[in-house]
Amino acid sequence: MKRHPLIGDELCRPVKSLEAVRPIVRHHHERLDGRGYPDHLCGDRIPLGAQIVTVVDVFDALTSDRPYRRALSPEAAWRIMRSEAREGAYSPDLVERLVDLHRRGEIEVAVRRVPSRRRRIAKARSRRS
Ligand SMILES: [Fe+2]
Repeated sequence: MKRHPLIGDELCRPVKSLEAVRPIVRHHHERLDGRGYPDHLCGDRIPLGAQIVTVVDVFDALTSDRPYRRALSPEAAWRIMRSEAREGAYSPDLVERLVDLHRRGEIEVAVRRVPSRRRRIAKARSRRS
Protein backbone atom coordinates (compact mmCIF):
# COMPACT_ATOMS: atom_id res chain seq x y z
CA MET A 1 0.00 0.00 0.00
CA LYS A 2 2.76 2.44 0.92
CA ARG A 3 4.57 1.60 -2.31
CA HIS A 4 1.94 3.03 -4.65
CA PRO A 5 3.51 6.53 -4.90
CA LEU A 6 6.80 4.94 -6.03
CA ILE A 7 5.06 2.55 -8.40
CA GLY A 8 3.03 5.43 -9.85
CA ASP A 9 6.16 7.51 -10.30
CA GLU A 10 7.88 4.61 -12.08
CA LEU A 11 4.87 4.09 -14.35
CA CYS A 12 5.03 7.77 -15.38
CA ARG A 13 8.80 7.77 -15.95
CA PRO A 14 8.83 6.61 -19.60
CA VAL A 15 6.05 9.00 -20.64
CA LYS A 16 7.59 12.37 -21.40
CA SER A 17 4.27 14.25 -21.22
CA LEU A 18 3.84 13.06 -17.58
CA GLU A 19 7.20 14.44 -16.42
CA ALA A 20 5.59 17.41 -14.65
CA VAL A 21 3.15 15.29 -12.63
CA ARG A 22 5.72 12.80 -11.37
CA PRO A 23 6.57 14.82 -8.21
CA ILE A 24 2.86 15.04 -7.42
CA VAL A 25 2.38 11.29 -7.86
CA ARG A 26 5.50 10.51 -5.83
CA HIS A 27 4.88 12.90 -2.93
CA HIS A 28 1.10 12.92 -2.39
CA HIS A 29 1.50 10.93 0.86
CA GLU A 30 4.23 13.05 2.40
CA ARG A 31 3.33 14.90 5.61
CA LEU A 32 4.35 18.46 6.51
CA ASP A 33 5.96 17.11 9.69
CA GLY A 34 8.12 14.67 7.70
CA ARG A 35 6.33 11.54 8.90
CA GLY A 36 4.86 10.73 5.50
CA TYR A 37 6.20 8.57 2.70
CA PRO A 38 8.07 7.67 0.53
CA ASP A 39 10.84 10.26 1.05
CA HIS A 40 9.84 11.81 4.42
CA LEU A 41 9.97 15.32 2.95
CA CYS A 42 9.08 18.20 5.31
CA GLY A 43 7.14 21.44 4.85
CA ASP A 44 7.95 23.42 1.71
CA ARG A 45 10.16 20.64 0.37
CA ILE A 46 6.91 18.88 -0.55
CA PRO A 47 5.87 20.17 -4.00
CA LEU A 48 2.79 22.41 -3.78
CA GLY A 49 0.93 20.29 -6.34
CA ALA A 50 1.45 17.23 -4.14
CA GLN A 51 0.25 19.14 -1.06
CA ILE A 52 -2.92 20.14 -2.92
CA VAL A 53 -3.57 16.57 -4.08
CA THR A 54 -3.05 15.32 -0.51
CA VAL A 55 -5.75 17.62 0.87
CA VAL A 56 -8.21 16.87 -1.94
CA ASP A 57 -7.51 13.13 -1.68
CA VAL A 58 -8.16 13.10 2.08
CA PHE A 59 -11.39 15.04 1.60
CA ASP A 60 -12.52 12.62 -1.12
CA ALA A 61 -11.69 9.62 1.07
CA LEU A 62 -13.57 11.00 4.08
CA THR A 63 -16.68 11.84 2.04
CA SER A 64 -16.81 8.44 0.34
CA ASP A 65 -18.19 5.18 1.70
CA ARG A 66 -15.55 2.77 2.86
CA PRO A 67 -16.01 -0.90 3.76
CA TYR A 68 -15.47 0.04 7.44
CA ARG A 69 -17.58 3.24 7.64
CA ARG A 70 -20.20 5.35 5.89
CA ALA A 71 -19.22 8.49 3.97
CA LEU A 72 -18.92 11.55 6.21
CA SER A 73 -20.62 14.88 5.50
CA PRO A 74 -18.35 17.68 4.25
CA GLU A 75 -18.72 19.40 7.64
CA ALA A 76 -17.57 16.28 9.51
CA ALA A 77 -14.69 15.94 7.04
CA TRP A 78 -13.60 19.57 7.69
CA ARG A 79 -13.50 18.95 11.43
CA ILE A 80 -11.24 15.91 11.01
CA MET A 81 -9.06 17.66 8.44
CA ARG A 82 -8.57 20.77 10.57
CA SER A 83 -7.49 18.55 13.43
CA GLU A 84 -5.10 16.50 11.28
CA ALA A 85 -3.67 19.69 9.76
CA ARG A 86 -2.99 21.04 13.28
CA GLU A 87 -1.17 17.79 14.03
CA GLY A 88 1.17 18.35 11.08
CA ALA A 89 -0.30 16.04 8.46
CA TYR A 90 -0.92 18.71 5.83
CA SER A 91 -1.33 22.43 5.26
CA PRO A 92 -4.01 24.17 7.38
CA ASP A 93 -4.03 26.96 4.76
CA LEU A 94 -4.86 24.54 1.96
CA VAL A 95 -7.64 23.00 4.06
CA GLU A 96 -9.14 26.47 4.58
CA ARG A 97 -8.82 27.24 0.85
CA LEU A 98 -10.78 24.07 0.09
CA VAL A 99 -13.41 24.93 2.72
CA ASP A 100 -13.75 28.44 1.17
CA LEU A 101 -14.14 27.05 -2.34
CA HIS A 102 -16.82 24.72 -1.06
CA ARG A 103 -18.64 27.52 0.83
CA ARG A 104 -18.63 29.73 -2.27
CA GLY A 105 -20.04 26.86 -4.34
CA GLU A 106 -16.98 26.80 -6.56
CA ILE A 107 -16.44 23.09 -6.09
CA GLU A 108 -19.05 20.45 -6.28
CA VAL A 109 -18.91 17.91 -3.51
CA ALA A 110 -20.41 14.57 -4.29
CA VAL A 111 -20.73 12.57 -1.11
CA ARG A 112 -20.44 9.08 -2.53
CA ARG A 113 -22.54 6.59 -0.71
CA VAL A 114 -22.92 2.98 -1.76
CA PRO A 115 -26.54 1.93 -1.36
CA SER A 116 -27.05 -0.36 1.61
CA ARG A 117 -27.34 -4.07 0.86
CA ARG A 118 -31.00 -3.99 1.80
CA ARG A 119 -31.73 -1.09 -0.58
CA ARG A 120 -29.82 -2.81 -3.39
CA ILE A 121 -31.84 -6.02 -2.93
CA ALA A 122 -35.14 -4.11 -2.83
CA LYS A 123 -34.17 -2.23 -5.96
CA ALA A 124 -33.29 -5.45 -7.80
CA ARG A 125 -36.61 -7.05 -6.73
CA SER A 126 -38.66 -4.07 -7.92
CA ARG A 127 -36.94 -4.26 -11.29
CA ARG A 128 -37.95 -7.93 -11.64
CA SER A 129 -41.65 -7.41 -10.82
FE1 LIG B 1 -2.39 7.67 -2.68
